[in-house]
Amino acid sequence: MIFPLLDKLALAGLHAMDAETAHGVTIKALKSGLVPACRVPRDARCQVKLWDLDFPNPLGMAAGFDKNGEVPDALLKLGFGFTEVGSVTPNAQPGNPKPRVFRLPADEGVINRYGFNNEGHAALRARLEARPRQAGIVGINVGANKDATDRVADYVAGIEMFADMASYFTVNISSPNTPGLRNLQARDALAELLTGVMSARDANANTLGRKVPVLLKIAPDVSDQEMEEIVAEVLAKGVDGLIVSNTTLARTGLRPDPRRDEAGGLSGKPLFRRATIALAKARKLAGPDLPIVGVGGIDSAETAWTKITAGANLIQLYSSMVFKGRGLVGEILEGLSRELDKHGLASLDEARGSNVEAWASASVD
Ligand SMILES: Cc1cc2nc3c(=O)[nH]c(=O)nc-3n(C[C@H](O)[C@H](O)[C@H](O)COP(=O)(O)O)c2cc1C
Repeated sequence: MIFPLLDKLALAGLHAMDAETAHGVTIKALKSGLVPACRVPRDARCQVKLWDLDFPNPLGMAAGFDKNGEVPDALLKLGFGFTEVGSVTPNAQPGNPKPRVFRLPADEGVINRYGFNNEGHAALRARLEARPRQAGIVGINVGANKDATDRVADYVAGIEMFADMASYFTVNISSPNTPGLRNLQARDALAELLTGVMSARDANANTLGRKVPVLLKIAPDVSDQEMEEIVAEVLAKGVDGLIVSNTTLARTGLRPDPRRDEAGGLSGKPLFRRATIALAKARKLAGPDLPIVGVGGIDSAETAWTKITAGANLIQLYSSMVFKGRGLVGEILEGLSRELDKHGLASLDEARGSNVEAWASASVD
């Protein structure tokens, strides 16, 4: 009982600060070990085996929370089944001027235009090497420097740098905050990028022959035709999965708030519908076998379950932690078990995609 109360006080304190300061304080607290570990339910029906990885549960922390790999183990202790560090670029870069992240409390949304601020490959590598135990599933999300003359080369450098330590890679071409980055989603550019990335991945198989799974993270704002082309390229190049989605540039349906017109990517509750429709469309195009991570607006067991029934094998969240705190992880996992009970299912796999048609044909407005 004491922890929920302390959590509430901590959240209130964090919300009294600007969003970026609050994030920094949270990272510090997680690093210091002051945030107690969470006991979350273990339900064998919610374990997920994908590639050569055994996920203890399907819920991960999305990229961007731990850009520099400072707290992967602390996040796993909160009960997440996996975590994703990054986005990381070859060279350290400061990102955009502050302020660059804004809460929209009435909508439980976040707008950010960080612009890939991060400490670069070498610093991330040093941190991950220093982890006391290399346990748990830690994905590495790679990006390109803002001033890169050859962006494909930046992604390839990320694969080469971390091939011996990443549980999986995410190739992030969907941040709206690096000018031109999303153009890599266009067919010809994407084909060139994926050829480069997949051959680097194959060439860097470890001594045991392990080829790190590579996932492509896409925007929720792609047109139907772009989505068709993306999925076709992903299948053609043997990419191991998709992450749907990153933040949106859309601003529809937001309550009045002076911050809603800030430039950047919108995430959290207001993203849920758009991201879930994009997920279902990707699932329909890809067929049942391509692993897809559903992300965007998950803030409850119900929204987590909806992502799975819209086609997700795994799910991630970030923004809802800002509004609901660490208790949310256990709440979602308990709720997923309850949904399985309710539907009499033996695994999440049995639920996956059961509602894909309805979501794939829904409209965003
Ligand atoms: C402050 C912030 C920073 C983010 N930074 C990254 C990033 O560096 N790389 C990335 O792939 N996604 C990044 N994201 C996107 C999230 O990983 C996620 O795709 C998106 O926020 C939707 O999930 P949510 O609604 O649960 O937040 C960021 C999101 C937020 C809110």
